[in-house]
Amino acid sequence: MDDLCEEFCSRLRCLSPNFQAERYQDDNFETFTSVEQIEVESSVEKCIQVIKNLLDVDPKCPTLQREKHVQFLKKGLIHLPASLEVLDASRTWLCYWILHSIQLLDEPVTEETKFHVTKFLQKCQHPDGGFGGGPGQEAHLAPTYAAVNALCILRTTEAYNVIDREKLLNFLLRMRKPDGSFVMHEGSESDIRGVYCALSVAKLTNIWCPELIKGTAHWVSRCQTYEGGFGGVPDMEAHGGYTFCGFASLVLMGQENVININNLLRWLVHKQMKYEGGFQGRTNKLVDSCYSFWQGGIFPLIHRALCLTEHQTLSSENWLFNQEALQEYILINCQFPHGGLIDKPGKNKDYYHTCYSLSGLSVAQHFASGHIGKIKVIGDEDNELCPTHPVYNLCFQSALQAIQHFKSLPVPDLPEKFKNETL
Ligand code: FPP
Ligand code: ZN
Repeated sequence: MDDLCEEFCSRLRCLSPNFQAERYQDDNFETFTSVEQIEVESSVEKCIQVIKNLLDVDPKCPTLQREKHVQFLKKGLIHLPASLEVLDASRTWLCYWILHSIQLLDEPVTEETKFHVTKFLQKCQHPDGGFGGGPGQEAHLAPTYAAVNALCILRTTEAYNVIDREKLLNFLLRMRKPDGSFVMHEGSESDIRGVYCALSVAKLTNIWCPELIKGTAHWVSRCQTYEGGFGGVPDMEAHGGYTFCGFASLVLMGQENVININNLLRWLVHKQMKYEGGFQGRTNKLVDSCYSFWQGGIFPLIHRALCLTEHQTLSSENWLFNQEALQEYILINCQFPHGGLIDKPGKNKDYYHTCYSLSGLSVAQHFASGHIGKIKVIGDEDNELCPTHPVYNLCFQSALQAIQHFKSLPVPDLPEKFKNETL
């Protein structure tokens, strides 16, 4: 091994001498799950081998392929392939995934693009409030969250003015159940994602009122399972996506302490895979880059909650997970050669995984934010992304500007129909 290679082996965790000891052991008991896990680890090993070979010619590797990702993202704002027809009910999501990824990469979008996206999202708003996944579709909390976030990213008065806040509040109250939970759309069942989407848009657009959250913290606390993470409804399996929604909702309500944070933290740290460095979504499942944010994004929220209570001794340098390992997983294994990011080696690129890999990469690079922030960038120093607000998953300037803008507007009156029902 030459000097250069030795230096990089110590810089990258995946090239250190003890790294192979982290591989999965099946104790000679083969199951479907163990076979899949071993296959994923060997595909990760191949990606690491490629990086080893690259070190001689590219001493800055791993490098974030910014230009290629930006090209892939910008193309998606103009034209989508016919294969994405299945995402017809997720078009506001596509706007959010693409715009947020572009902003994380610190790439500007033109005024013309902002104009077209604003007009498109306007068409997705339902006449009775909230947004559907596309024009003329039924209002649903998930595309509503995506549309509001996308409009906040644009940061123009025209974009903010699209949101009919009075009708949005009416829609949120219609989705609320007497036990404090939320359904995603009329006629569906309670779901912790609905709670998060409702509270996130309510906070951003300043339509938050006590009637919206009566009983909600208690309902969310019932979703914490014996493992420590949260299920989609009480008594369901703990999963990263639902856990983010549950804990971020408690943060939005200032009610983090209604759950057992230590159990949550223990479950969460065990979801980071020892060999791959990325996160799995649930126990005994495979690594997937989207959990870089769904799981990784919970650490800053926990850190803050613990700092606010008795844990004064927490590090002021690191989140409570291996930030370098997560960055290596994403940069080495999840970049599609022609742009876009992927779930794991062997998968195809898509806008969802591009958005949540980059969001998780941003969390792993930045400890805290602003002047006290510490930056920890693996690979090329140009790999650094913009920091993201872990509650909304919006870059800070977009979250803060939206909050400031809507704060200058009055909170709409509670519709008559809901006045006696909720208090
Ligand atoms: C399992 O998929 C996926 C889920 C059970 C739901 C995931 C929920 C989210 C990602 C949160 C969505 C958030 C909002 C704001 C709408 P799988 O079985 O294919 O994956 P796995 O094997 O990794 O568990
Ligand atoms: Zn995924």
